[in-house]
Amino acid sequence: MNSRSLLRSPVSRRLLRPVADLIDQRIERQVRSAVRRTGAPSAPPVPDTGRLVRDVEELRHRQLTIELLLGPGGRGISRMVGEASLEHLYAEVEALCGDREAAERNVAAAFRLLVALESLGVGRIAGGTMNICGKLGTIPLLDPPNDEILEIGTLYGMFSAGLVRMMERDGRSPALTIVDPFAGVQLQPGTDRRPDPTGAPVDEHAVRTNLALAGPAGAAARIRQGFSEDPETRAAVSDRDYGVIVVDGDHSAEGVARDLEWAEEIAAPGGIVVLDDYGDPRWPGIKDALDDRLKGTTTRFVFLGKAARSAFLRAA
Ligand SMILES: C[S@@+](CC[C@H](N)C(=O)[O-])C[C@H]1O[C@@H](n2cnc3c(N)ncnc32)[C@H](O)[C@@H]1O
Repeated sequence: MNSRSLLRSPVSRRLLRPVADLIDQRIERQVRSAVRRTGAPSAPPVPDTGRLVRDVEELRHRQLTIELLLGPGGRGISRMVGEASLEHLYAEVEALCGDREAAERNVAAAFRLLVALESLGVGRIAGGTMNICGKLGTIPLLDPPNDEILEIGTLYGMFSAGLVRMMERDGRSPALTIVDPFAGVQLQPGTDRRPDPTGAPVDEHAVRTNLALAGPAGAAARIRQGFSEDPETRAAVSDRDYGVIVVDGDHSAEGVARDLEWAEEIAAPGGIVVLDDYGDPRWPGIKDALDDRLKGTTTRFVFLGKAARSAFLRAA
């Protein structure tokens, strides 16, 4: 996209609206003072067009800089935030945790963390901005019963790095376990095996680099290469009760059903289970699998609510 069409995009227009309002106000002030000077209410306004052109040029430069920092280039998705989506997310996180102030604080902290991690790390965090901020912001606010965290499906490990930071900001001492096949690309039904938009390889080395950004707790993470349904994988990491389990691996209905069944076995009493991409039309099997479990076989899970595209459960 060139800078001209960038400025015409709906997001740019929304972002530029406050500045356009400022320019309008400035013109209005000039007109009023011209009218006052001449004492003739019908005198034609004399806007300083040269100055307006310089203001717009400056804004275009600023917009370009913001696009480089937050735009989709190099990661395939924009991190620009819309006011309506943000308000919606605040309301969802508030409904989950019961505290509006904490919801706004954690979503803002999560957004800054997301931008920082993607700026400094290898690869990206998967998914939309509101979904990532919702997960990172909400999990600590649900007060998990212990600090053991399991992420099923990690891609670049960057979400886990962020979660470690968010938990530490809440005074917790997270201990992380990760399960992923590290297949070199993102394995997902409906996703072709083309290279990641960031150009970075999906491998354990990248995950280690990203986890190191989260300090000692990130560096100490336990990483198990394998599929979550494999008995050897499960045996290797089912040695504890987890306070937080993030289910974000196999996105098929069968895969999610298997992961939820396993999560129900290894969640600590009161443990939080987060199911990613819940309600995403690209993977309808995710919602189907959870809805089936909640209607039928679960003996432990209570549905707490959702934030963006993530469902939150508590294990009894
Ligand atoms: C959507 S990505 C995870 C994104 C990551 N949680 C994040 O927030 O950035 C899904 C990951 O799960 C992995 N995966 C696919 N099938 C899996 C399985 N059966 N067990 C564990 N991981 C799996 C994929 O290779 C990929 O790395």
